[in-house]
Amino acid sequence: MTIRAVVKGVGHYLPERVVPNSEFEATVDTSDEWIRARSGIERRHFAAEGQTTSDLATRAAQAALKDAGMEADDLDAIILATSTADFTFPAAATMVQANLGMTRGFAFDVQAVCAGFVFALANANGMILSGQARRVMVIGAETFSQLMDWNDRSTCVLFGDGAGALILEAQEGEGDNADRGILASDLNSDGRHRELLYVDGGVSTKSTGHLRMQGREVFRHAVEKLAQTAHAALDKVGLTGGDVNWIVPHQANLRIITATAQRMQVPMERVVVTVQDHGNTSAASIPLALSVGRARGQIKQGDLIVTEAIGGGLAWGAVVLRW
Ligand code: UT7
Repeated sequence: MTIRAVVKGVGHYLPERVVPNSEFEATVDTSDEWIRARSGIERRHFAAEGQTTSDLATRAAQAALKDAGMEADDLDAIILATSTADFTFPAAATMVQANLGMTRGFAFDVQAVCAGFVFALANANGMILSGQARRVMVIGAETFSQLMDWNDRSTCVLFGDGAGALILEAQEGEGDNADRGILASDLNSDGRHRELLYVDGGVSTKSTGHLRMQGREVFRHAVEKLAQTAHAALDKVGLTGGDVNWIVPHQANLRIITATAQRMQVPMERVVVTVQDHGNTSAASIPLALSVGRARGQIKQGDLIVTEAIGGGLAWGAVVLRW
């Protein structure tokens, strides 16, 4: 008998305001054609004035609870992946806990930027396997619009706001790769690459700062490292790209998504793509894509899914799970 962390519910929330590429043509030297051709992005959602990351996370969490048929107090823990928490402290996860009316268990944030949801999933899995918790809500939520330098055309057109949530529950499995639940993960970081993607502010520098990115260099690392980490996770359980029903990648750039799928020898028909509608929502992008992919009828129970992501740090990783 093996314990597995099995998906019981999923949900997402996108702020109402939709911003098409054309809106940026008025403020920076860019075009809808350039943004579509270089990134695959067509539109993104931006949070309303005063709408915070914990607000978006709470809406996604409520949708996931409804999907799972659970109440907030059925959860033992909430892990929220974000780089854009409402406050320096407390953790935005504890604010979600209060918003949901959850009066037990524990909640904390994980900060691994765009790879945050993958890191949070691996953390949740570890807690479930060790018996620390039986039911864990894993959320990715971001308001990256708050970190944009609106004069920097190379970054401000790429990012969006949103949230997605997944509920995992301990269940018994057979111990082989036909089990439902999280089967393997692979996590990496290399702090030597800080300057490729970072925010030039923070508590000890007394400002919020803006996102700075050397896009071409990050692109190069992404294409190399995403397929590598996905293969490393699959290898651990004796699976290959040929076994994968869906790649659910971090949604930063359609060209990176396509190149990674090619390297994994998975056709694009088996990749969940939402980047055209959401832009890059950092830690929220994978749970958003999981929720949208399920709603579209792409992801079904029993499907083998690989999620992979890379971002600031650099930090990157992959999780293999059977839905
Ligand atoms: O989520 C975290 C991980 N992040 C990523 O994965 C992002 C990775 N990087 C990328 O997605 C791509 O590098 C970008 C979409 C950011 C840029 O695409 P690129 O093909 O790498 O373009 P580039 O940075 O090499 O820029 C090409 C040209 C430059 O002009 P010159 O030097 O060739 O004259 C840029 O100045 O495009 C120019 N450019 C723009 N032009 C119109 C940069 N941004 C824009 C813009 N509109 N918004």
